[in-house]
Amino acid sequence: MKILITGGAGFIGAHVVKRFVRNYPNYQIVNLDKLTYAGNLENIKDIEKEPNYQFVKGDISDLEFIRGLFKEHQFDGVIHLAAESHVDRSITDPLAFVTTNLVGTAVLLQVAKENWKADYSGKLFYHVSTDEVYGSLGAEGFFVEDTPYDPRSPYSSSKAGSDHLVRAWHHTFNLPVKISNCSNNYGSYQFPEKLIPLFINNIIHNKPLPVYGEGVNVRDWLFVEDHAAAIDVIFHKGEMGETYNIGGNNEWRNIDLIKVLCKQMDEKLGRDEGTSEQLITFVKDRAGHDMRYAIDAAKLMNDLGWAPTVTFEQGLSKTIDWYLSNQEWLDNITSGAYKDYYDAQYVNR
Ligand code: NAD
Ligand code: DAU
Repeated sequence: MKILITGGAGFIGAHVVKRFVRNYPNYQIVNLDKLTYAGNLENIKDIEKEPNYQFVKGDISDLEFIRGLFKEHQFDGVIHLAAESHVDRSITDPLAFVTTNLVGTAVLLQVAKENWKADYSGKLFYHVSTDEVYGSLGAEGFFVEDTPYDPRSPYSSSKAGSDHLVRAWHHTFNLPVKISNCSNNYGSYQFPEKLIPLFINNIIHNKPLPVYGEGVNVRDWLFVEDHAAAIDVIFHKGEMGETYNIGGNNEWRNIDLIKVLCKQMDEKLGRDEGTSEQLITFVKDRAGHDMRYAIDAAKLMNDLGWAPTVTFEQGLSKTIDWYLSNQEWLDNITSGAYKDYYDAQYVNR
């Protein structure tokens, strides 16, 4: 089987690419990534010499380039992760999200259809999406697979649109598709613009921890390797045309999560308890900040037997250990080639 994985130099994509390259030596994996600020070849350097792996630099929204790539490789499957992924950046630069998340997804669908339409057997277009498409919850309830879509940020709207495009190509052209919608991920190789790696980096350097609003927004956190395992299970065992929610039943108010993070950081850095918490600084809220996300993953767990493998405290501890042992990776982003992009995230504050 020859599989195209898009966005494999990013955070989740790197974990998915490594898992597929290592666990399925009989598959040929082509990793297509534009290497935006969020793409980093360091994330996948441990597999770059594997015989069943190839990296290609390119843009998913470039129709003729994608046509050429399919012609050259004759892919049987696509696992589509490439996206503009950061909500704050979608507030400052929304058009990039429309181009990559909407146009890019449509281009991939159309080229897959052009190549596969003579015989769809053994083919699969797997689209990786987010729980943010369902909108924002109040204090009660969970997102299930048929919760109506209600996206509210440019990021979540572009992802919701991409999900609709995938379903449209399935219903109109019979393209074999699967979709998953996952909650907030954390773990190694996450760009330090997202809450957990940003705050780890700031604690290391004694910089303020900018908590939006009052810190009472709730997110449902999942260790990235558990997300990669879920994608593996859905890719191989999920029903064609189906959607699966992925989440670890692990809700935290931001401020409570940040306090746990501060405590673990103090312990690991040998600082007095309470030191890191003093860095907490309440700042202007994110525009349109969704209040609460919570995933009901019963369908995935009951039908396909997936379950998360770590508790949040275990996953967070592993994550902190990774960033402390890989500070050069962080420093290369915050002060090296990615510095301008990294600094740009503060524009919105
Ligand atoms: P990321 O920003 O870390 O990585 C995105 C990757 O896509 C980067 O390597 C980037 O270079 C690449 N890319 C961007 N535009 C491209 C283009 N036009 N052509 C080719 N490559 C391009 O993102 P992530 O956090 O790893 O998210 C991966 C996917 O999972 C996204 O589709 C995202 O919506 C989804 N998702 C993320 C989370 C999360 O918590 N991070 C949760 C649920 C779903
Ligand atoms: O739910 C899945 C989504 O999770 C993914 O689709 C997105 O790609 C991913 O970025 C993530 O979106 P969030 O907006 O929830 O993640 P972020 O890490 O940006 O923020 C988590 C929470 O922390 C959110 O309520 C905003 C808050 N926050 C974030 C940052 C960066 C702060 O209070 N301060 C910050 O500096």
